Order: sequence, then C-alpha cells, then structure tokens
Amino acid sequence: MNSLETIRKKVIECTKCELCKTRTNSVPGKGNFQSDVIFVGEAPGRNEDKYGEPFVGAAGKRLSAALEDAGMSRDQVYITNVVKCRPPNNRVPNSDERNTCQEYLKEEISIIKPKIICILGNTAFNSILGGSEITKFRGKVVRKDNQMYFLTVHPAATIYNQELINVLKGDIKKLFDLITELKNDKEISADIEYSS
Ligand code: URA
Ligand code: SF4
Repeated sequence: MNSLETIRKKVIECTKCELCKTRTNSVPGKGNFQSDVIFVGEAPGRNEDKYGEPFVGAAGKRLSAALEDAGMSRDQVYITNVVKCRPPNNRVPNSDERNTCQEYLKEEISIIKPKIICILGNTAFNSILGGSEITKFRGKVVRKDNQMYFLTVHPAATIYNQELINVLKGDIKKLFDLITELKNDKEISADIEYSS
C-alpha cells in the first residue's frame, strides 16, 4: 500500500472536525501520484460529497474542459481540496476546519512532490499562501520555501461567467507551458516571492 492510499484511508475515516457530522462521504484527493502538478480547490460540493471524488460536478466539468483544452486529461494530474468534507450548504470552510484538514494536504504534497501547485480560487489562495483577491493575482507564479505555485480562478466561478472560462483555459495552458520548462530544467522566475 503506497502512502497516498494511507492518506486516503485516513481521510475516509477522519472525524477530526465538525464537518464529519454532516458529510455523506469524505473526498480524498485523486489522480496520478507521479503528477508534476497538484490542483487544489476549496472543498467538496454536493456531487463530490455524494460520490466521494473531487471535482465531479459542474465545476469539475469546467476544470476537465480547461485541462482537455491544454491537451491534458484528469488522470495525468492530481486533484484535491483544502478541506476534504463538504461544508453544509457549500459555505466557505472556516479556519478551524481548514487548519485541521491541512495535515492531509501537506502529506499529499510531500508524497507527490509536484513541480508546481495550482491554486484554484480564493479559499485555496488564502489557506495556502495567506493571499486574497485571486482575480487580481491569477496567472501569476509564486515561490515560497522553494515550492512553486500557480494562481488561477476557481472553476465554479466560470459557470456563470463565460469570459472567465477563457481566462481559466488560458491560465491552464500557461501552467502546462511552465511545467514543460521546469521539466527541461529551465529556471522560471516567480512573479511573487513569499517568505515564511
Ligand atoms: N469545488 C471545489 O472547490 N472542489 C470540488 O471538489 C468541487 C467543487
Ligand atoms: Fe477530517 Fe478534513 Fe473531513 Fe474535517 S474536513 S473531518 S479534518 S477529513
């Protein structure tokens, strides 16, 4: 059993925060453990809670479309969330829930060792880098503690905004161009340096 499977089991059984009381299923990360990139969303929604898989609802369709547009498929990458159980009525997960669940995300990152982490939307931006105003910072590359991050909008935000789907698609293409450069051992310069 590899360690991602261990995390998966821990997440499925986890009762460390209040969200365990209202979830149907916890939603562990899913995808290729050799992926160069981890996509990180906010928290499961209704469909994810029902099926126990990340990004399988309407937002997931948008994410898949953006990946396909960049010539990638979901099984080539790893997709997860800051918080692994659905908050009631899809409210934003609170800081206690985010901090408690963070351990799993840290473990996923330390096993996969992605070249870059793609942050999807404000909740992930805030939880992982303490940032806000993703629409202002999207498309940018961040370096913190020797880890590269790429910022983009949340796929759910594109559902009622046709223009944003093109923004998301453009960003995801840029992300995979950056990954190609990283794989060829090219130095890519960060737009923003964060210190911890
Ligand atoms: N929104 C998220 O942030 N994550 C999912 O898995 C689905 C919708
Ligand atoms: Fe555990 Fe995270 Fe689910 Fe809370 S949200 S019960 S910490 S897996």
